[in-house]
Amino acid sequence: MRLLLGVTGGIAAYKAAELVSRATKRGFDVRVVLTGAATEFVGPLTFEALTGHRVLSPSSPRAEPEPASSIEHIAWAKWPQIACIAPLTAATLGRLAAGIPEDPLSTVWMALPATVPSILCPAMNTEMWNHPSVQRNLRWLEETGRYHIVPPVSKRLACGDIGMGALAEVDDVLEVLVREAPWPK
Ligand SMILES: Cc1cc2nc3c(=O)[nH]c(=O)nc-3n(C[C@H](O)[C@H](O)[C@H](O)COP(=O)(O)O)c2cc1C
Repeated sequence: MRLLLGVTGGIAAYKAAELVSRATKRGFDVRVVLTGAATEFVGPLTFEALTGHRVLSPSSPRAEPEPASSIEHIAWAKWPQIACIAPLTAATLGRLAAGIPEDPLSTVWMALPATVPSILCPAMNTEMWNHPSVQRNLRWLEETGRYHIVPPVSKRLACGDIGMGALAEVDDVLEVLVREAPWPK
């Protein structure tokens, strides 16, 4: 099962490495797309080692699965059977909701075929989570019917606040992926 995982620049980016490791053991072939901010939190090498595939990021050289002559973001968008962004920052959420493909991750996601299930796992500070723009963006994306939202959970956040905004448990994200993936009957 081909899973494309997008990782954005939130403090929970390190948990994406655990998600990749667990997903691989559950039978997913995983490729990773990083935002530039995500590479400040976790290096591409971690994901390349865990997946066995080159990572796509703003600074990566051209990487499989595309042949040298192809249009890179389209080749990446055609590859997955299921897609997931974990963690999803407020910034990338805003790009998806506004339809502004300005980096490899948002460009690939906007080019994903409509038939590919796309799971979004937002994670951010509680005040950001409660911001009307964030809530509007999430609601709007959900209403398109193209996205399945795995909401954050309430706990003590990295910033010290206690409240909504922490990335959902890796186990719970994985269960959604297993459930939503189009496994052969
Ligand atoms: C230490 C640190 C932690 C951050 N954590 C988050 C976070 O959990 N969620 C979020 O939406 N933004 C967070 N940000 C802000 C994002 O990094 C910033 O908005 C960035 O532009 C996101 O870009 P991206 O969506 O392209 O990855 C954090 C910033 C810093 C410096």
